[in-house]
Amino acid sequence: MSRSAHPAGPRHADVLTEGHYSAPAADLNALDAKVWSRTVTRDADGALTVGGITVARLAEEFGTPAYFLDESDFRARCRAWADAFGPGADVFYAGKAFLSRAVVRWLKEEGLNLDVCSGGELTTALDAGMPAERIAFHGNNKTVAEIERAVEAGVGRIVLDSFQEIVRVAHIAQRHGVRQRVQIRVTVGVEAHTHEFIATAHEDQKFGIALADGQAAEAVRRALNLDGLELIGVHSHIGSQIFDMAGFEVSARRVVQLLAEIRDEHGVELPEIDLGGGLGIAYTSEDDPREPHEIAKALSDIVTRECESAKLRTPRISVEPGRAIVGPTAFTLYEVGTIKPLEGLRTYVSVDGGMSDNIRTALYDAEYSVALVSRTSDAEPMLVRVVGKHCESGDIVVKDAFLPADLAPGDLIAVPATGAYCRSMASNYNHALRPPVVAVRDGEARAIVRRETEEDLLSLDVG
Ligand code: LLP
Repeated sequence: MSRSAHPAGPRHADVLTEGHYSAPAADLNALDAKVWSRTVTRDADGALTVGGITVARLAEEFGTPAYFLDESDFRARCRAWADAFGPGADVFYAGKAFLSRAVVRWLKEEGLNLDVCSGGELTTALDAGMPAERIAFHGNNKTVAEIERAVEAGVGRIVLDSFQEIVRVAHIAQRHGVRQRVQIRVTVGVEAHTHEFIATAHEDQKFGIALADGQAAEAVRRALNLDGLELIGVHSHIGSQIFDMAGFEVSARRVVQLLAEIRDEHGVELPEIDLGGGLGIAYTSEDDPREPHEIAKALSDIVTRECESAKLRTPRISVEPGRAIVGPTAFTLYEVGTIKPLEGLRTYVSVDGGMSDNIRTALYDAEYSVALVSRTSDAEPMLVRVVGKHCESGDIVVKDAFLPADLAPGDLIAVPATGAYCRSMASNYNHALRPPVVAVRDGEARAIVRRETEEDLLSLDVG
């Protein structure tokens, strides 16, 4: 539906000449299932409910701002990924998207593995009982102490990211008298952007070892020669929030080519390849993500085809979705504080959180949707910018969206699809207290990460 097609016409929209806003939905009260978690619905009074609990009750018990995570949706997404890839492949949830002890337990119960990229994530994983052999350890500059801990714990794989690290991990493993299973992260020369991919000869970024000019082949040579390492495969991660499978296909093809070269040079067929994460989710109704089974089929088809033509045994595939599992499972609930109509421009709606609980809009120009959730409204759509309470004009949560024109202070509004990279990237800017993450399931809600308190802030301040 185009903007002009709306009967009343959105307030202010006519005077805007640029911007990314979409047309207002025909019915602002409708909840697009693409962007909301699976158990979200409106009750008879029009209030949004998740896991059978209304947002009013949730706000009363946990306060705002807060992230509400739909546990059964999270578990269902884990199962969908595991089922799509089947027993012949491994799904590693990327903990950087959001990690807590409860999440680790869910992953364990649903049969997923876990990708961690810091000592803190490793500690959380081990503390919550994830078996070490189901953990992959990532990072472009793991410290010696982190590598020591990973090796001691017996993590299933360390993904090597540089020539220095090949030697570092080998020495540490030898010192511990073990052969550490490792993969080498290669840069395949595919630069992925949000909705597209651009093939480049060289990637100008800090991760991995380039396939181009034989760097990756040299890394393999070195790793195969070190007693402390058991090289099990090659890893490639091309980017994030990607919808187009073409970039993954190019990446898979290049990784298989490398396996063929390794076979030719060393007589060794490496048993595994990891194609990373990066699958996109719907933040707004305009995004069209792929389902896990489509992704699994596309990847396994291309790997099988390439291996057949290179006469290689098909390696075991692993993937590392983070956002695609947790992103759609949570929304952030805010209370509206002030509403400022700027005549001829737009209406600024200020909420009780902001860039400290969602930095993605400021950092990546990310687009989000928003809805009035404490009630329904038949008022005409009003073009708004949802902003936070921080001392910064870039403190924007939702850049352009439509909310009902009768929006008032005290109303609850929610931003869907904030499960990934929101709490995990939250900050204490302006000494904001980072919000809780509340898991909701079957009529029960419990904080899995509690809200920070001012005592927490002061306890770090030891001067
Ligand atoms: N595997 C590796 C090696 C990665 O580096 C990443 C993400 C993933 C898996 C998971 O990617 P996902 O499926 O979640 O897209 N803060 C940014 C995203 C940074 C992702 C970094 N690496 C954001 O908010 O969009």
